Amino acid sequence: MEVLSTIDQVRARTARARAAGGMVGLVPTMGALHAGHVSLIGAAVADGCDALVTVFVNPLQFAAGEDLDAYPRPIEADLAAAQAAGATWVFVPGDGEMYPQEPLTTVSVAGLGDAMEGASRPTHFAGVATVVTKLFAITGACRAYFGEKDFQQLAIVTRVAADLSLPVDVVGCPIVREPDGLALSSRNVYLTPDERTAAPVLHRALVEAADLIAAGERSVQAVRAHIEARITAEPLAHFDYAEVVDPTTMQPAELALPGVRILAAAQFGIPRLLDNVPTDPAGTSPAIALSTSDLEVSTGDRAPRRGGRDT
Ligand code: PAJ
Repeated sequence: MEVLSTIDQVRARTARARAAGGMVGLVPTMGALHAGHVSLIGAAVADGCDALVTVFVNPLQFAAGEDLDAYPRPIEADLAAAQAAGATWVFVPGDGEMYPQEPLTTVSVAGLGDAMEGASRPTHFAGVATVVTKLFAITGACRAYFGEKDFQQLAIVTRVAADLSLPVDVVGCPIVREPDGLALSSRNVYLTPDERTAAPVLHRALVEAADLIAAGERSVQAVRAHIEARITAEPLAHFDYAEVVDPTTMQPAELALPGVRILAAAQFGIPRLLDNVPTDPAGTSPAIALSTSDLEVSTGDRAPRRGGRDT
């Protein structure tokens, strides 16, 4: 595995790999790699790609007062994790490499980023879309692997690639969870032990909501109210939002028909945690989580069965 720090190095390596007939698998991250990130690298490697992991804490997507400075940066551990997962290159640019001057050109995706995370963080998705577009431009033709954990982000980067005719296939990957259902996140380390115990209520509420829809509930209001009530009943949780959306357009669904995606966020002490679950388009009960090795990769987002490791 090679560690790269300049855009020119990335361009040279990826161009050479493509010229030799290879496929590049881009895995954008902000580092502090956990098993969720590792699953994306694993997906790229399993697809036969040369995996290019990027580790860059993108200042553009943090608003003033957010945790940019405090964001964990364990680079040695990240390099070890990327290597163990089979990465070919890790791109670790400095801020000056990515933003040699203040960017006057930014990318924003109308509509998709306004609600949910965008409502709490109005400048966040333009920062994400801009850095991801830069990473796509730097990497060139590739597959790009993103987690469903940040479902709104996945919808946005998919739309960026399509709208701008970028030579990138965006691949969405399932959420990796702790055994009790908590989605792995770099921010879980901020949870106190009591908050950590309370946090799985977010996933439980979502799974119950998916079950309601599978059982025939069609009122979006009822589904949202159920999630809010479950989260509000947990004293250490501060409910933020619950939404039922079309998984492609991210627009609020009028009816909770099978196939909608259910998303929610809540604050537990310092971290604000996000989660989401699919609903089965066939209208039956959500599928049971699939276990891979000691981790939980759940496509159906039922309570996982075993395993797990801390972030
Ligand atoms: P970061 O939070 O580091 O996440 C990098 C990628 O890992 C994202 O695609 C995210 O959805 C995925 N991921 C995080 N937790 C996951 C989990 N539990 N299971 C599966 N995938 C998971 O998202 C970002 O960085 C940034 O916004 C970025 C896209 C890199 C742009 O700066």
